[in-house]
Amino acid sequence: MPNPALLQSLLPHTPIRVLEETASTNLDARRWLQDGAAHGSLVAADRQTAGRGRLGRSFASADGGLYMSVVIKSDLPAGVLTTLCAVAVRRAIKKLTGKNADIKWVNDLQIDGKKICGILCEGVWQGDRPLGVIAGIGLNICQREFPEALRDIAASLYPDGHSPVESARFCAAIWQEIFGLLPEAPGHMEEYRLACVTLGRRVYWENAAGRHAGIARDVDDTGALIIDTAEGTVALAAGEVSVRPFDD
Ligand code: BTN
Repeated sequence: MPNPALLQSLLPHTPIRVLEETASTNLDARRWLQDGAAHGSLVAADRQTAGRGRLGRSFASADGGLYMSVVIKSDLPAGVLTTLCAVAVRRAIKKLTGKNADIKWVNDLQIDGKKICGILCEGVWQGDRPLGVIAGIGLNICQREFPEALRDIAASLYPDGHSPVESARFCAAIWQEIFGLLPEAPGHMEEYRLACVTLGRRVYWENAAGRHAGIARDVDDTGALIIDTAEGTVALAAGEVSVRPFDD
């Protein structure tokens, strides 16, 4: 698990909980926030038994990855925080490994077209009062294998199973980048756009109104994807787009 003593020494003023295994660090951080966790509080684990992904999906969370959630007390919309976390993780990876990750709108980091990190920002409320946001990050560091369904689309930073960088260092670097970028938000958006491989691509998506296609032209400062379609320009605030056409 992320070495607790090392992690605490790298982030001396941060309230930290480190777990070998948990259901979901996002759920742990949510409960902690409801019990009064401070801005910046961090939960990190080695594996999750019920990792949560976007759009109600699960997130594969086996040994070899880093699963972390941070408490952010901020009024910024989820789209801004998600893009900010993506830039933060990208910077941390570059600093610690020298590798350049691409961002796939809105919350995925990829290397060579394969997902190495997912981000899930969830708002927490007490009645009608917002308490804060839990930013959950799952980083594939050195898993050698993924479940069958993910084999072609997921990868880890060190697929041979040996990471020269301790997971506590990734965790601390990501935390530091997030809280370094926050005061300047949405100042991170230019960096996000430069790293976003979705821009300039033809994208396909489906919603209650049917199937759509268009060219992804921009990401605005709220994190929405701006797409030019035959019917006009649309701004997608959430959801998912694919660069692969529909099968039928
Ligand atoms: C996605 O790609 O759909 C988002 C995945 C987010 C996964 C992280 S792992 C740490 C935190 N705890 C969770 O249960 N989910 C997030």
